[in-house]
Amino acid sequence: MADRRQVLRFGALAAGVPAVLGAAATPALATGGHGDHRGPLIVGHRGASGYRPEHTLASYELAARLGADYIEPDLVITKDRVLVARHEPEIGGTTDVASRPEFASRKRTVLLDGVSVTGWFTHDFTLAELKTLRATERIPQLRQHNTLYDGLFQVPTFQEVLDLRKRLEQELDREIGVFPETKHPTYFRRLGLELEAPLVRSLRRNGLDRADAPVLVQSFEAKNLATLRAAYKLRAPMVFLTGAAGSPFDDPKTYAEYLKPAGLRELSRYADGIGPDKSQVIPRTADNTLGTPTSLVADAHAAGLKVIPYTFRAENQFLPADYRAGTDPAAYGRAIAEQVAFLKTGLDGLFTDQPDIGVLARDAVLARV
Ligand code: G3P
Ligand code: CA
Repeated sequence: MADRRQVLRFGALAAGVPAVLGAAATPALATGGHGDHRGPLIVGHRGASGYRPEHTLASYELAARLGADYIEPDLVITKDRVLVARHEPEIGGTTDVASRPEFASRKRTVLLDGVSVTGWFTHDFTLAELKTLRATERIPQLRQHNTLYDGLFQVPTFQEVLDLRKRLEQELDREIGVFPETKHPTYFRRLGLELEAPLVRSLRRNGLDRADAPVLVQSFEAKNLATLRAAYKLRAPMVFLTGAAGSPFDDPKTYAEYLKPAGLRELSRYADGIGPDKSQVIPRTADNTLGTPTSLVADAHAAGLKVIPYTFRAENQFLPADYRAGTDPAAYGRAIAEQVAFLKTGLDGLFTDQPDIGVLARDAVLARV
């Protein structure tokens, strides 16, 4: 894996990187790194989902225009085996399907990774049927402004996201990466609708299955990444996501175990980085203020893994108590300051719903290096 890692386009912040890593661990900071920017990657989480309904082409496009280095499609699949961008197979929470009488009979309950979920599911729809739906804002109580766009945008296919990426690269004259996540891969495989083959086919068809491609494939299931590397011979870099608690589905090893030094070394055999819950980098205290950084960034870097935590959001609701402004949960708090605090731990990137705020935070930290 060492040869693959050398071509990754990351750059941690030198000031925040433990001295033990030395200069060789942070080559991109001094030399330019990814595209036009120096330093950590700013990943447009579900696009620019703070400003547009998530996982729409409008959301991804805005993310790129606001300066995101990577755009992040979560991937699920249709009945006719087309990869589409949604956070989960259930689409009642992010589309207008509930208001469509022609699809009323599709509502049902499934067991999704051991959890009973009722709604409408992508795997019960053909792509043509899914395309008749329109995206809606997931959290209108916090992001009322995004409801302005309800009903305007379709559910995009992965190919449409890749086409958009290519077009914006040309227009903006800079590289724009894609950070696709396989959602519930074991669930879909058991339905006979595996995500792996169409994902690898798509990346190859678009010239993106290379060790130096601006691609980071991510999953909460470590075995999914190991399979992509070993069985599907995926060459693109990969990132293992970890939950704040629990373990991957169909895997007894807990996320906490994966994040110990031995677990990180094991991951480095097939993965290039980790995407932890941000509380695994800096936990909250008992009174919900921001606590003291853990050793995770140093431990991961020692194992040769990059660290790109999720998810940074500007609204008070999601911020530590000491970074909030006022009491309105939908109002913005001190989001730049929160991200600066995290970036100073030596991160290689971060996922944010408001990519422009990520860029400002990165600029603020780099200005001090
Ligand atoms: O993929 C990083 C982050 O998006 C993981 O959380 O649930 O938003 O996909 P989720
Ligand atoms: Ca995701």
